[in-house]
Formats: sequence, C-alpha cells, structure tokens
Amino acid sequence: MKKKVGIDDLAVYIPKLYLDAEELAKARGIDPGKITKGLGIEKMSIPDAHEDAATMAAMAALQLMKKNNLNPKDIDFIHVATETGPDAAKPISCYVQGMLEQVYGERCLDHIGAPETKFACVGATYALIDRLAYIASGWNKRKYAIVIATDIAKYDLYSSGESTQGAAAVALLLKENPRLLAYEPEFTGFGTVDDRDFYRPIERTTAVVDGQYSIGCYLRNMRIATDMYKNNLIKFNIIKSDQENLSDKLDLISFHSPFPKMVQYAFASFLIHDWRRFPRWDNILSKIGPEPPRKGLTNVEFYVSKDYKRFRSRFSKIEEFRDEYNAKVANSLIALKLIGNSYTASVWLCMASHFGNGRDNLDDKRLGVCSYGSGSSAIACSFIIQPEYKEVIKKIELMRNLSRRKRISMEVYEDLHEGRFKTDESVISPKKEFALDYIGKEDKNVGYRYYKYIE
Ligand code: CAA
Repeated sequence: MKKKVGIDDLAVYIPKLYLDAEELAKARGIDPGKITKGLGIEKMSIPDAHEDAATMAAMAALQLMKKNNLNPKDIDFIHVATETGPDAAKPISCYVQGMLEQVYGERCLDHIGAPETKFACVGATYALIDRLAYIASGWNKRKYAIVIATDIAKYDLYSSGESTQGAAAVALLLKENPRLLAYEPEFTGFGTVDDRDFYRPIERTTAVVDGQYSIGCYLRNMRIATDMYKNNLIKFNIIKSDQENLSDKLDLISFHSPFPKMVQYAFASFLIHDWRRFPRWDNILSKIGPEPPRKGLTNVEFYVSKDYKRFRSRFSKIEEFRDEYNAKVANSLIALKLIGNSYTASVWLCMASHFGNGRDNLDDKRLGVCSYGSGSSAIACSFIIQPEYKEVIKKIELMRNLSRRKRISMEVYEDLHEGRFKTDESVISPKKEFALDYIGKEDKNVGYRYYKYIE
C-alpha cells in the first residue's frame, strides 16, 4: 500500500537584526514607496557578525529537535539546501551535524546521511522530494529526516538588488504519517530551462542578477511547471477535463517570494493562464481590455514585454483577482514583508506565514507550493493539510520572533555587509546560540570554519 509521507513540523530561524526599508531607500536616494509599496518590503533580516548560513541552519534544526523532543538516534538524514554555503566542498549539513553534537553529545549523530543540494532558491524543494521519496520507498532506517533551507540573500551595495536582501533558515521535519502536511507526489510538475538570470560565481559573496529578466524567467518556468502539475491532476481525474479550472483545486498557495510583489506577478500570471479558457474570462476582458497575443509564451521576452506587464497590472486590480489573492496568497506574505528574500527558505517561510496568520479551518485543504530557483527551475507541487495541524502550528512562533528584533543603522548594516566586524564583534552577543568562532589561518586549516555553541 502507498505510504502517506510529508511534513510533520517546521521550525524557523530569523536573525535578530533588521534594516528598515525606508531607511535604506532614503540612504540610496530612492523614493521609500518604491521599496515598501512597489516591491512590498518593509524590513530586511540581517545576519550578525557571528552568523552565516551554517549557524542559521543549525539554529533552525536545534529548535525543531527541541520542540519535538527528538532523540538524535531517530534521525536518518540531515539534508541541507543552500546557495550561500560558506565552503565550496564541505556541505553545511556536516557543519550542522557537528554543531548539534555539541549540544546532544559527541558522535550521537554519526549514523546520519548528510548531503547538501544546490539549485538556487528551489534547492530545498528538490531536497524535500528526495527525502520524502526515500521515506516512501521504505529505505529509511530511522523515523525522521530533517531538510533545512538556509540562505543569506546578498547583493552589492547600491545595486538594484540591494532592496531585495534578507536571511532566514527553515527546518522541515519529515516522516511517514505526518501531522502537518501530506505530500501528493503523483501531481508534481517541473519546469527547467538552462538560463543566466541570476548566479554567483564562486569567488563572489554577492549574486549577479539581471533583475527584470529574472522576473521573466520565474514566470516562464512557473507556467511550464504548473501546466505539468495540472496535466497530472487531469491524469489522476482530480480535474475532470482540460476545461476545468486549476485554481479552484488549490485552497492556499505558497510561492517563492524574492519580494512580495513578485508573488503578485506570479499569481496574476498563473490566473491569467488558468482562467482564460473559462466563461468568466469574457467578463474580465470587458473590464480590462483585450489580452496581448500569446505568441512566444515560452519566451522570457513575452513576460517582460510592456504589453503583457500592462495587461497583468490591470488584471491585478480587478475584484476577481483581489478576492482570490486575499483568500489564497495574502497571509503567506505577512512575514515575508518583514524578512525580505531568503532564497531557498522563502517558499517555506511563506508556508509558515500562512499557518501563523490564517484564521480559517484548514483541515483537509490543499496547499500548493510554487518554488522557483534561478538558473533556472520551477517546481509546482501540493500537500493536504492534516487534521492534527492545529496543535503543530501553535508552536510556530514566527510573528512573535519577528516583533522582537533589533533595528540597525545604515552604518552598521554596511559594516556587516562588507564583513568589517570580527566574529566576536556581534551587535547582539550570542546567547544559547551557535556562533562562528573563528576561521583557520594555518597552512592545514586555512579558511576552515570553527563553530561553537555559546551558553
Ligand atoms: N512608489 C510606489 N511604487 C513604485 C515607485 C514608487 N515611488 N517606484 C516604482 N514603483 C513600482 C514599480 O511601478 C514596480 O511595480 P509594478 O511592476 O507593479 O509596476 C515596482 O515598484 C518595481 O519597480 P521596478 O520594476 O522599476 O524595480 P527595479 O527594476 O528597480 O528593481 C528588481 C526590481 C528587478 C526586483 C530588483 O530589485 C532586483 O534585481 N532584485 C533581485 C532579483 C530578483 O529578486 N529577481 C526576482 C526573480 S528571480 C528569483 O526569484 C530568484 C531569487 O530569489 C533571486
């Protein structure tokens, strides 16, 4: 019999510092409205001097283990996805193992598998599918697998990407018969195109991005992935014919959110593609005018063309769109507006934000996940929210933790960004926390990172 596998719980780690978006705008001579309203970002999480993607991952994992009273011997895999790992050879997963053993005891996790997956912001979704498939196959030797998404989104100072930075880690607990979300493996769709929208050459700490082009790649790939997802629903008779609506089968959606406005672009593109075959479409066109020709739908140029952007923008203002957006997407962005981008973690933060801000009964609802990674690949998949979910989400303290952060000045932000602070010069000294202790300088350990749990 087919096993039910999925996400049993999740834990989020957000750095304790943030930069106010209005302050950044003023310092860069930009109208603050462009960042707060145009992009939808109010605050950006900034890691302290003792933090990196590895400490954030370990913090999320530690929180997940503590809140679920996990015994290390019950963990089969710790699988990390990141695009901002500090080492080109050693995976963060192994650093995380070492850090957790400082708390739980030496060699208590030496039995685990510990790979790292990289595919820009979609990496954690690939890692999750791998681990769930492994559990579903029965190959796992222990009950739990942990997948961690961890990233620091960082662009050059004064670049247009600077207003879309941020940082976070999310740890997902996976098992058979999960309490939170059961995965629907048969429907998953992919959309992959070898492209150059965003990348980070090995010698750089900041990403290189072609901003508007990257938006087009996101929309193009998402259309390919959601088409495949829909075809799979048709194949399994969940949608009765090609004429039925996909959006009606999804109760909530969590999109990759490099900035909240991007999710609005993505959801509008998704609905335009989904609704245009249905009777309601004529009524919509009567309100917003004719749709531009759909020739070139597989090209980025189509999605970044002025005509399509204008049409999408008009569509985003009508009541039918606003109602659907408010019901299925808006709650996922409440936390994201206060965090900024966090690459691999972002789509899972949107999921946590849904749970942290929704009031309706979500039992048995279908939650769609639309994940995108530059380079480029999109995954569209779904989960069914489980009856025990209410107990689980009570302990996701995302919004409370966001309200406890410390605001930093532009000066401190720039010093942290440029690595001018030593690891022991943190803005907030680490307490009950993993910290980067020092970086090796001898011949045998040059560049090696030493981490420590600070009581
Ligand atoms: N008040 C209100 N709104 C304003 C405004 C003002 N004063 N000034 C501009 N705006 C609006 C614009 O009208 C626009 O909104 P609409 O699209 O709805 O019209 C919005 O603000 C953004 O303006 P621009 O498109 O002109 O912004 P930009 O080109 O300067 O920069 C960006 C935006 C391209 C996203 C840039 O920040 C960037 O390069 N970011 C990094 C790349 C990125 O995030 N890409 C996303 C897709 S790739 C991906 O998802 C992977 C990943 O994580 C990186």
